[in-house]
Amino acid sequence: MNAGAMVSLTEVSPAPYNAQGGERIPDRIQEQLLRGDRRIKLAIMVSGKGRGSNLQAIVDAISSGDLAAEVAIVVGVRPDAPALERAAAAGCPVEVVAPGPAETGAEAYGTELLRVFAAHQVELICLAGFMRLLPSAVVRAYRGRILNVHPALLPRFGGKGMFGHHVHDAVLVSGAHESGCTVHIVDDQYDTGPIVLQSEVPVLEGDSPETLAARILPLEHSTYVRAIQLFSENRVQVSGDQVTILPPLHEQDLGAFAPYDD
Ligand code: GRF
Repeated sequence: MNAGAMVSLTEVSPAPYNAQGGERIPDRIQEQLLRGDRRIKLAIMVSGKGRGSNLQAIVDAISSGDLAAEVAIVVGVRPDAPALERAAAAGCPVEVVAPGPAETGAEAYGTELLRVFAAHQVELICLAGFMRLLPSAVVRAYRGRILNVHPALLPRFGGKGMFGHHVHDAVLVSGAHESGCTVHIVDDQYDTGPIVLQSEVPVLEGDSPETLAARILPLEHSTYVRAIQLFSENRVQVSGDQVTILPPLHEQDLGAFAPYDD
């Protein structure tokens, strides 16, 4: 199919819907894609102490027209979180869902999160400085449609306890010459899901955890926005651990989903 050629709804119908196992795209989304007015509905999840710089980058990219998305809801774990204040200041709808005690709270937490996501018709969940494992009911319900950004090149330097300066400390101690960031799909472990996009930066002589973090942060912002845009365009196909970035819709030859060299 030639670039720019129109595709009909029938031609599009077998396309996968951002999910494992090649689900069909729901009709509503097909229509949005073909009309060119698709704006994927996001939930952004933040923790108690997060700065909210990734959240801000997403909000700014939407405002500037660089990201076809809508922040349907920002969910935090406590009302005084700086990232939630930032979200409210940007005019985003905000809800606090408290996780409750680890031993007894997970099921109720999962149920309440799913209620909030359904109420706001959330299509993609973006963890932005959210430090917990999500309840398994949420991971199951949104399989393949939960993203996280991590400040290193996974699969190295991830896992429980690998956040903030711990990540950059470990990179520096390892003697790695490169670091960067990873946007990955969230599963039920820390930092292990299929990788959607990565961006690299050099590790420089004399780097401290702070200088390395500062070099990586702007890259997190642009990489996260790019990954969300790919989801909005329905161009992320997940099969097992493998992510394939599909060509733009108008170039998709649905007979042959060749990996797209971005
Ligand atoms: C980022 O470094 C991200 O990689 C990690 O948590 C941090 C959140 O920062 N998952 P911010 O709150 O978005 O500024």
